[in-house]
Amino acid sequence: MNSNSKVLVAGSTGMVGSAILRNLKSQGYENIYSAPRSHFDLTKQEDVERYFHANEPEYVFLAAAKVGGILANQKYTADFIRDNLLIQTNIIDAAYRYGVKKLLFLGSSCIYPKFPNIPITEDQLMTGPLEPSNDSYAIAKIAGIKMCRAYREQYGFNAISAMPTNLYGPNDNFDLETSHVLPALMRKCHEGKDKLDHDLGDSFTPSIVLWGDGSPKREFLHVDDLAEACVFLMQNYDQAEHINVGTGEDISIKELAETIADVVGFKGEFVWNTDKPNGTPRKLLDTSKINSLGWYPTIGVRRGIKQTYDWYLENEDRL
Ligand SMILES: NC(=O)c1ccc[n+]([C@@H]2O[C@H](COP(=O)([O-])OP(=O)(O)OC[C@H]3O[C@@H](n4cnc5c(N)ncnc54)[C@H](OP(=O)(O)O)[C@@H]3O)[C@@H](O)[C@H]2O)c1
Repeated sequence: MNSNSKVLVAGSTGMVGSAILRNLKSQGYENIYSAPRSHFDLTKQEDVERYFHANEPEYVFLAAAKVGGILANQKYTADFIRDNLLIQTNIIDAAYRYGVKKLLFLGSSCIYPKFPNIPITEDQLMTGPLEPSNDSYAIAKIAGIKMCRAYREQYGFNAISAMPTNLYGPNDNFDLETSHVLPALMRKCHEGKDKLDHDLGDSFTPSIVLWGDGSPKREFLHVDDLAEACVFLMQNYDQAEHINVGTGEDISIKELAETIADVVGFKGEFVWNTDKPNGTPRKLLDTSKINSLGWYPTIGVRRGIKQTYDWYLENEDRL
């Protein structure tokens, strides 16, 4: 891939796609294309066909998907498996048939078993049962990995798969019904702070109720680091096996909540509802494979949260 290559970023309005777009632009890529949903419903084969026929991209970042937090995954199980299977099948197949030189498929760490060995190495795929709350989404993603491998084996198509850990950053989803834990916490802290500042005065201490006891540890990668990794992999990785992308470090949900509260300036309290389940105690990817190729993240959690909150404040009106 060089600065004149024709590059498609599918899903360019989303958190990951928009970050890949920014990264490519910052590296001097000049022919970057997107396929906005307003013109191309990527679940529809005829729309994807029309797109590839008209534009003939050389490299494809497949960041279009139906994505959501635990509530959305539990409520819309059919939509999650259908839309993701359709989007990825349509794009991977069209990319191969229209002579794309290389495609990067984005999966997610939820492809791994519910009780993995920590840190989670790539070879733990399909070694145990999945977390049931998002298995529709995970099974679609596993099918995407398998499809990339099968097109490589049978047709010699250069398709690679990256498995990012939990992501956050600009253009994240802050809707409390469908969002992931970090943006949901940020919004709750922001709204709690607003209440304290404007409505209720000093005598009121707002509280935020959170599930479990805050002890589970999770890994969070800033989306600009992920975008850097995706472009790096497009330039440097050509193997069939999927590859983990993470920070190699995890923090407890309690520590995450406290960091967000501190950055936002939320002075209320967190109430831990221990009647609710904690979930898996730890979930941390083994990133030694991508590290051995020379890629490491550069944005620490606190700096990333601060940058994301600045973006949130600038864009609050349209969220
Ligand atoms: N967010 C995370 O924490 C996370 C973690 C690991 C992996 N990932 C992976 O990263 C990828 C991107 O996730 P994200 O967080 O960037 O999601 P996102 O913000 O929801 O973006 C999804 C993108 O896909 C587009 N899209 C969805 N359905 C479409 C359709 N039918 N036709 C055309 N475009 C469609 C969306 O367009 P609209 O803007 O029009 O909706 C948007 O541009 C996914 O494969 C996901 O599995 C995400």
